[in-house]
Amino acid sequence: MAHVLFEKLVSLCKRRGFVFQSSEIYGGVGGVYDYGPLGVELKRHIREAWWTAMVQLRDDIEGLDAAILMHPRVWEASGHVEGFHDPLVDCRRCKARFRADKLLEEFAERLQKKNKTGQAEALLEQLHQKDAPLGALILHYEVPCPTCGARDWTDVRQFNLMFRTYLGPVEDSASLIYLRPETAQGIYVNFHNVKDSTRQKIPFGIAQVGKAFRNEIVARQFIFRMREFEQMEMQFFVRPGTDEEWFRYWLQERYRWHLGLGIRPERLRLHEHGPDELAHYAKAAVDIQYHFPIGWQEVEGIHNRTDFDLSRHERYSGKNLKYFDPETQEAYIPYVIETSAGLDRTFLMVLADAYDEELVEGEQRVVLRLHPKLAPIKVAVFPLVNRDGMPERAERIYRALKAHFRTFYDDKGAIGRRYRRMDEVGTPWAVTIDAQTLQDGTVTVRDRDSMRQERVSEERLIEYLRACLERWEPQRVGG
Ligand code: GLY
Repeated sequence: MAHVLFEKLVSLCKRRGFVFQSSEIYGGVGGVYDYGPLGVELKRHIREAWWTAMVQLRDDIEGLDAAILMHPRVWEASGHVEGFHDPLVDCRRCKARFRADKLLEEFAERLQKKNKTGQAEALLEQLHQKDAPLGALILHYEVPCPTCGARDWTDVRQFNLMFRTYLGPVEDSASLIYLRPETAQGIYVNFHNVKDSTRQKIPFGIAQVGKAFRNEIVARQFIFRMREFEQMEMQFFVRPGTDEEWFRYWLQERYRWHLGLGIRPERLRLHEHGPDELAHYAKAAVDIQYHFPIGWQEVEGIHNRTDFDLSRHERYSGKNLKYFDPETQEAYIPYVIETSAGLDRTFLMVLADAYDEELVEGEQRVVLRLHPKLAPIKVAVFPLVNRDGMPERAERIYRALKAHFRTFYDDKGAIGRRYRRMDEVGTPWAVTIDAQTLQDGTVTVRDRDSMRQERVSEERLIEYLRACLERWEPQRVGG
């Protein structure tokens, strides 16, 4: 059932121009997607909502846009060259490739479904131990290949997830360079540049939005796990000893931000990482998870990265990266609380949360109940019929609205169908110009969620729509 919903979302994304597969005419590139005309708007609005909350409204956070390509030593210092890998295993018979830990997790799920709970729990317990012997577990539990059923596996190998390329024309190890696997490092290496140029004092943060790249062994689930993706990350630099308090603060703030997008509270939860799940840089980590049609999954991680990254950069660069506290006259390496959200995952969450189907007068209506501030198109303008001066009047209104809101003009097909087309892409309001408009200068404004219509005078239209945008509250009509 849940997967049916997922397929509907994927199909809607393509049909209405939210998301396309990359290079589709050549058969596509696995785990890479393009955002279409409506997708680019939705994504931009999510990014802007994040930037407003994290930079514009705060005095203690500065923005940054660091380059994707960085000095290769950065990734040695960060631990990514040594520790950023996933275990890989191949089926010798059908050549299918798997992440060994995921293969075992999915096998445990299948055992559970067959009521072999004891075996499943034993496997999961062994799997979640540090440095679990994955190859030995695959052999011991006689895990079959999910694709062909064979039990003929290669050894488990560690596969580094960073994309590599060469800087300049010479392809040798001296010119090896990586596509960044996280934006965070661009912030750490600029910590002193930002502090000195803005005269910020600890505690303060640096925020940036940008592309990151991971050569996932298995990229799947649409835009949920991509090889090229966009992160919205903020690193908050604090005095050691105050880190746990700031960690709690940021966890709450970020949770509230997701609710502010109109996301259903019952589909959000926190998941604390156990010791075996912690990334190499983190002392503590909590995920904000959303209940996607594919199950509970992370959309954002809040991490206490301690002084790990800055200490390592101090060691690897040989530069003094300590912060001198003018009040206490102490010098120390700050601790970092990181908030790391996936923009593409947030996009998918917003879509999944907004998607609704209902029966209206015996016909199915698909509606995206998007928060209006995120909706790609804010208002549609329709002449009721294409005669009697209505199109001219409608075009005039369209041009006036366009300067204030992203507006869409549609005069094709029956009015009911035009409403439905707008519902399906989440347009919150539709303005219709009818015979009465020509007499008294009023238009109807139809609300996407309630489908109620109100007559509003043309002069008050912009003010009216602004007020609707300001006071919008989610209406949980459907399931
Ligand atoms: N910067 C943390 C992450 O990429 O997950």
